[in-house]
Amino acid sequence: MTNQISAAPSKSITSHIHTKPHFITVSKLITIPALPRTSPKINSYTMIDFGVIGTSTISHNFAAHAHASGQWNLRAVYSRSKVTAQAFASKHGQGQSPKIYTTIEGLAGDESIQAVYIASPNSLHYSHAKTCLEGGKHVILEKPSTSTSAELATLFAAAHSHGVLLLEAHRHLQEANFKALRSGLPLLGAIYGASLTYASYSSRYDAVLAGAEPNIFSLEFSGGSLVDIGVYGVAAAIALFGPPKSATYDPVIVATGVDGGGPVVLRYEGFAVTVLQSKCYTSTAPSEVYGEKGTLRVNGVTDIDSVEFVDAKTKAVTKLGGEKCKYNLMEECVEFARIINSRDHEEAAKLETLSKEVLKVTEKLRKDNGIIFAVER
Ligand SMILES: NC(=O)c1ccc[n+]([C@@H]2O[C@H](COP(=O)([O-])OP(=O)(O)OC[C@H]3O[C@@H](n4cnc5c(N)ncnc54)[C@H](OP(=O)(O)O)[C@@H]3O)[C@@H](O)[C@H]2O)c1
Repeated sequence: MTNQISAAPSKSITSHIHTKPHFITVSKLITIPALPRTSPKINSYTMIDFGVIGTSTISHNFAAHAHASGQWNLRAVYSRSKVTAQAFASKHGQGQSPKIYTTIEGLAGDESIQAVYIASPNSLHYSHAKTCLEGGKHVILEKPSTSTSAELATLFAAAHSHGVLLLEAHRHLQEANFKALRSGLPLLGAIYGASLTYASYSSRYDAVLAGAEPNIFSLEFSGGSLVDIGVYGVAAAIALFGPPKSATYDPVIVATGVDGGGPVVLRYEGFAVTVLQSKCYTSTAPSEVYGEKGTLRVNGVTDIDSVEFVDAKTKAVTKLGGEKCKYNLMEECVEFARIINSRDHEEAAKLETLSKEVLKVTEKLRKDNGIIFAVER
């Protein structure tokens, strides 16, 4: 008998990525839908006119991938420096001369934009997002959302009262291959644990070793490995298994006072998830979810290009995912445009809950270890 397990991608996945899911046979007993390959399907929604805050690499990537998605139009750029904003605008403006702002209030008051992408240092997310939400703009807010849960609650309240959406840019959760991993969970039977790894030596750690304090390694700017890089594994665990019953963290503290990385253990009913994360070393280990019937293996918790099911008894390997998207911010650009354009409040509410749960965990883990941000003193 062939069992068809209910591992179909959710409506929000199929509606924008793949209209006709293929089916692949994992074993003689189980058939699951194969998940999306290559680029997400683009819907013909209204283009969203948007502005950016922050002009570093991630903002350049977002502007480029947003443009490639065909859903977003860059119309405004904020920078502390007019010259920097102009350079960014001419690179990504597609000949449309985006407006230049050197105040957040100016950008937030621009009637010609509906949304703002925010990639400023972590500690500034709150004030930047609040000003934009109060200006009636949808906000795509880079991870980690805010320094504290209280700040995040205030932002979501502002979004609700102004009738706009606040979406945290957990880009990895929008990857088709992450969704393939999630859809494969029923293959495992009883789940016995997971190991989610993201550790990458940061070029900015060189500066810390040389005695400097770059933003991402600064308590003043709400930095540290857990909120910067560990958050990928914590968010993935919560997206896969829900909020943990309890959590612990054993960080290495670097010279600037923030955590440089370390193991996080998230405990669930009957199993635990280990999140190995660091900005002080590089790991090449894959990430895995373990079950009675087999193991789901991915090359990492983000930029996933390989999703495999390994049968527990036969060790046979079956490929589940597809090719990864060419642009690693494109899937979130497409999904967030769909949520905004279709006013998908149900999906937005799920993402709001996820953002709050992730922050609740990282905030507790920091405080347990005496890692106190400047805004909390
Ligand atoms: N999703 C991802 O893959 C990903 C990747 C990287 C970063 N991020 C997130 O993106 C955000 C920015 O990270 P980043 O490493 O690019 O940060 P960053 O380089 O420290 O700062 C980003 C931008 O903020 C402005 N800025 C820098 N220092 C400032 C200060 N002291 N006061 C006010 N503005 C300042 C600068 O823009 P101007 O000079 O133009 O004002 C800068 O380009 C973080 O929240 C990070 O977690 C996400």
